Amino acid sequence: MTQITSAQLRAKFLQFFNDKGHAVIPSASVIPENDPTVLFTTAGMHPLVPYLLGAKHPMGTRLTDVQKCIRTGDIDEVGDASHLTYFEMLGNWSLGDYFKKEAISWSWEFLTSKQYLGLDPDRLAFSVFAGDENAPRDMESYNLWRQMGVKEDHIFFLPKENNWWGPAGVTGPCGPDTEMFIIRDQAPCGPDCSPACDCGRYLEIWNDVFMQYNKTADGKFEPLKQQNVDTGMGLERTICVLNGCKTVYETDLFVDIIAKIESLCGKQYAQAQGEDLRAFRIVADHMRTATMIMGDRRGISPSNVDQGYVLRRLIRRAIRFGNQLGVPENSLCEIARVIIAQYADVYPEIKENEAFILEQLALEEGRFQRTVKQGIREFGKVLERMKAQGVSQMDGVSAFRLYDTFGFPVEMTAELAKEHGISVDMDGFAQRFKHHQELSHAGAEQRFKGGLADSSEQTARLHTATHLLLASLKKVLSPDIQQKGSNITAERLRFDFNFPRKVTKEELAQVEELVNQAIAAAIPVTVEEMSVDEAREQGATGVFASRYGEIVKVYTIGDVSKEICGGPHAGNTAELVSFKIQKEESSSSGVRRIKAVIGAK
Ligand code: ALA
Repeated sequence: MTQITSAQLRAKFLQFFNDKGHAVIPSASVIPENDPTVLFTTAGMHPLVPYLLGAKHPMGTRLTDVQKCIRTGDIDEVGDASHLTYFEMLGNWSLGDYFKKEAISWSWEFLTSKQYLGLDPDRLAFSVFAGDENAPRDMESYNLWRQMGVKEDHIFFLPKENNWWGPAGVTGPCGPDTEMFIIRDQAPCGPDCSPACDCGRYLEIWNDVFMQYNKTADGKFEPLKQQNVDTGMGLERTICVLNGCKTVYETDLFVDIIAKIESLCGKQYAQAQGEDLRAFRIVADHMRTATMIMGDRRGISPSNVDQGYVLRRLIRRAIRFGNQLGVPENSLCEIARVIIAQYADVYPEIKENEAFILEQLALEEGRFQRTVKQGIREFGKVLERMKAQGVSQMDGVSAFRLYDTFGFPVEMTAELAKEHGISVDMDGFAQRFKHHQELSHAGAEQRFKGGLADSSEQTARLHTATHLLLASLKKVLSPDIQQKGSNITAERLRFDFNFPRKVTKEELAQVEELVNQAIAAAIPVTVEEMSVDEAREQGATGVFASRYGEIVKVYTIGDVSKEICGGPHAGNTAELVSFKIQKEESSSSGVRRIKAVIGAK
């Protein structure tokens, strides 16, 4: 197989689909905007959900992109050969434009044509949806693959658990898919060996989803207004398979990062085994993800809630496993610099945010070191108590308290205990831990209540309220105020902005008053499409990050606000009824956060 770099694969993919009439759009943020259903963008389709549901995309009905994605659900699996918490997804999109015929023939052309991936058709396998009570067997896709010349025994009919994609939340666009696999030089594991088993013979590289249904809150699958195509090719995995690498860590996406860790700890990755090998991979993966999160336009910093908490966990795990390898203290910035340099051309925002990334990493390392010191002191106290009582096993409650209150990892408690000749009741700890996780899981499930699709009206109203809030903050506080983050749930809006101090009660009252005046004035909300340059000339606020994305939507609310934004919005400010700020607090250094609600309709 020919060798191909990640940069070449990105470029080939975008160029191929651009030649087929697709507009190249930039990656959206890894933090979903105005979508309460998930913390991070987990697939290329995520930022495009409103368009899959029928909203008009300013760049047209055929799009192609490389989307930054984060999936931390399997964080504990990282360290094996394949799990990653950050990856890039190459995709092509039809928004009510072409459907199965074009999607399948282009996938085939890209995979097999010498000019593109040039893969041997005999080494490719395909799966298609077998059909069930919700949707029929996908004979159309089967026949299309057969027309491409695929042999019968290279196509597998699989059930919903394998060949159905979405929705991202509980409700939303979804449909059957057809997946593409490389067949490895490895015998079938048995007579039923198929892409559905994980014996390793079949490696998935691409997925074409035919989004033609909307899953409703009561579990029904209704036909969508339009038929869409959503495809996803994982960059890391595909590069690994194409180059015949054993794991993603041997690809060009990791070589420099691993080399930096090697030089910091003095050990060789190629010689590493067992726990050391796992630690190398965890540090590389977590540092890459943490850097991508902080390097995003939203300026997320480590904290105890939401994305900030995930970020904190990634950084602290990187420190811990780095420690285990022998990476000296305060080295994270050196690793981050390598990652920033590697991605600067692909995602310019990461270079623009370099100072922020390095500052946050250094701060978090300092905090973690203090936590560890406090934890050690607390551990000492528990130890004295145990000695006084003549006990030789630390109970699960104490170990959990060290973890929960002092952020002290239980592995460290166990190590320290061993040094002092005592044991730790790990089962007791695990019980407490599980209970705690169940509680936070229940919290997380709340997020899935009311996905984008069924709370779209409320989302649109809160979205408009957010624009009025920004305009009012600019008037009351400073024209330099900018959006640093925005998040909307069914109940409230949350808005982060740059401001160096607490906003006073009087200022908040003025802001509230201005927004309520705009609501009382019943101003129509209008939208226009224009080039980024034009938007800038017209004085529109918003993220001017489009590199390829030339045409944007600009929402205007009378002479109160003009903002670049994807929407959706209320038709008139009167629909907001009223506006109330519930809370103003610090979000991270130099960034304030406001939570606000609007009146019921
Ligand atoms: N959305 C599809 C996936 O993530 C393409 O596999």
